[in-house]
Amino acid sequence: MCGIIGYTGYSDARGVLIKGLKTLEYRGYDSAGIALYNKNKNVADVIKCKGRVALLDEKTKDAAGTCGIGHTRWATHGSVSDENSHPHKFGEVTLVHNGIIENFNSIKNQLGVESMLKSDTDSEIVAALINAYYQKDKSPEKAIIKAVKEITGTFALGIMFDGIEDTIYAVRNVSPIVCCQNDDGAYIASDIMAIGEYSDNYFILPELAVAKVDRNGFFITDFHGKEIKPKMLKLDWDIKNNGKTGFPFYMEKEICEQPSVIEKTIKSRTSGDMPDFSGEKIDESIFEKCENITVIACGTAMHAGLIGKHLIEKYCKIPVSVNMASEYMYSDPIINEKTLVICVSQSGETIDTLEALKYAKRNGAMTLSIVNVRGSSIAQASDNVIYTDAGPEIAVASTKAYTTQAAVFYLITAKAAYIKGLMSKDKVRDFIRQLNEIPSAVQKVIDGRNEIHKLSNMLLTAEHTFMIGRGLDYPTLLEASLKLKEISYIHSEAFASGELKHGTIALITDKTPVIALLTQERLMSKQVSNIKEVQSRGAQVITFIKSSLKDEAIKCDFALPDTADDFTAIPAVCAMQLLAYYVSSDKGLDVDKPRNLAKVVTVE
Ligand code: M6R
Repeated sequence: MCGIIGYTGYSDARGVLIKGLKTLEYRGYDSAGIALYNKNKNVADVIKCKGRVALLDEKTKDAAGTCGIGHTRWATHGSVSDENSHPHKFGEVTLVHNGIIENFNSIKNQLGVESMLKSDTDSEIVAALINAYYQKDKSPEKAIIKAVKEITGTFALGIMFDGIEDTIYAVRNVSPIVCCQNDDGAYIASDIMAIGEYSDNYFILPELAVAKVDRNGFFITDFHGKEIKPKMLKLDWDIKNNGKTGFPFYMEKEICEQPSVIEKTIKSRTSGDMPDFSGEKIDESIFEKCENITVIACGTAMHAGLIGKHLIEKYCKIPVSVNMASEYMYSDPIINEKTLVICVSQSGETIDTLEALKYAKRNGAMTLSIVNVRGSSIAQASDNVIYTDAGPEIAVASTKAYTTQAAVFYLITAKAAYIKGLMSKDKVRDFIRQLNEIPSAVQKVIDGRNEIHKLSNMLLTAEHTFMIGRGLDYPTLLEASLKLKEISYIHSEAFASGELKHGTIALITDKTPVIALLTQERLMSKQVSNIKEVQSRGAQVITFIKSSLKDEAIKCDFALPDTADDFTAIPAVCAMQLLAYYVSSDKGLDVDKPRNLAKVVTVE
């Protein structure tokens, strides 16, 4: 987590840093700070504070400079405080850090600097270590390389040295740094979104490399001093147009973008109603060879994997296990050359997913990743990548990334079933035609959002809710429940309806609203019975029912559009996203930046 940024050039560095930090706030928003090089005193001056970047903006209004570094923090080591905010200055070294330093304690003891530290962070120790080496021969590059070789953990660092004007150093291990330049100077950041407006051409700083960044650009070496020429990439997202465009929150905007981004994701990967991954040069033999599939992901992305499991097992007859990335390597997973590992990630930077992917590769698995952010670490580490066309997702709560990931799983299902000879061409075409109906079904849900808004009132004062569904509705509700928890702070649990009575039904009272989803025809009568069971224990039930399944036996609070049963997951989750959204916004919460969270989780 945490976002870092740096700029050196001819323009107002404060403006570049603050603007970039506002974009990077999705990576953490506990505190923020900048350091600007003061040419009169020949030192880097630090200004930092607890709170959002908007506060830092106010505090730095009079600060000036043409070279600087900045940081927005998601607290790991050390509480949320002014002192623990970045940048950290020790001696002549000022730095910003994204990542975790695992051996900070032993370095602290080795340096004997405890009494000189101003913060409780692991990052300040890195500044102390680099400073210690810098005092020996005043070579920034040598000091940085010696120091980072001693560090264990993950890091992206932006570093300035007192006495060295117009220059920043950047170094990375795992945590990302992207770089670009124009006539005004050179820029570094954790994410291209923060600096993409300055150039359409950028590169990702290679791992275990140090960049000396000055007004004229970059000089990059590995840790042995050998020059590295980075691979240039072209920005293909319109990041200049990433405002809220009239919506009060990014989350609502992103929910409403779903019909178009799902359609784009499907259309760019189909031709003649057949799935077609040739644009991404996917090695299709992976679908032929694989005998088992392991999906690895976290949070929402993992829930998309559960939709994938349902589809792939049904249509391709390949066993699929869905794994939390953080547990994967420690569960002694069974991997062989017939295992296809599918990693799913919006950011492509989630450290648990990245490390699990590397582990699976080392152990001989074939790998495919479904990623939204182009060129991200997971995309680079994977043998095959299918990109989702969700575009930039800013709200911490993931919506359009999820539904485009699910859309890709439909495409993978059709492709693998065809390759394995389990679906004829006609059947595949029929499947893809049904998939093509999804964007307009999602649009119908969005068009009915005022009704969902009214229903959300029933949840405003609830402390606990349950969500119940069967079959494909269950993974949809796991995602719905996560959405409600993370942005409205209401405790919510999703249950496969039949399981509730094996213990948890004890928690059902007239104070626990229950949300029930009914989109699966063959499970309808069982689900109706399960709803009656909670109603007879006092629960108020809000029902979302596929139109064609509406029935006198159960009242319908929101009618979902008609799609075939295996295609209900995406429109249904859109209704749930809207429900969570309205609860959060009507509670007056900061929908886009829920407490304690960060959009990109780069610590294990
Ligand atoms: O960037 P990723 O898709 O790898 O992120 C994984 C999770 O952290 C993420 O899906 C998280 O659960 C969502 N922000 C929840 O809305």
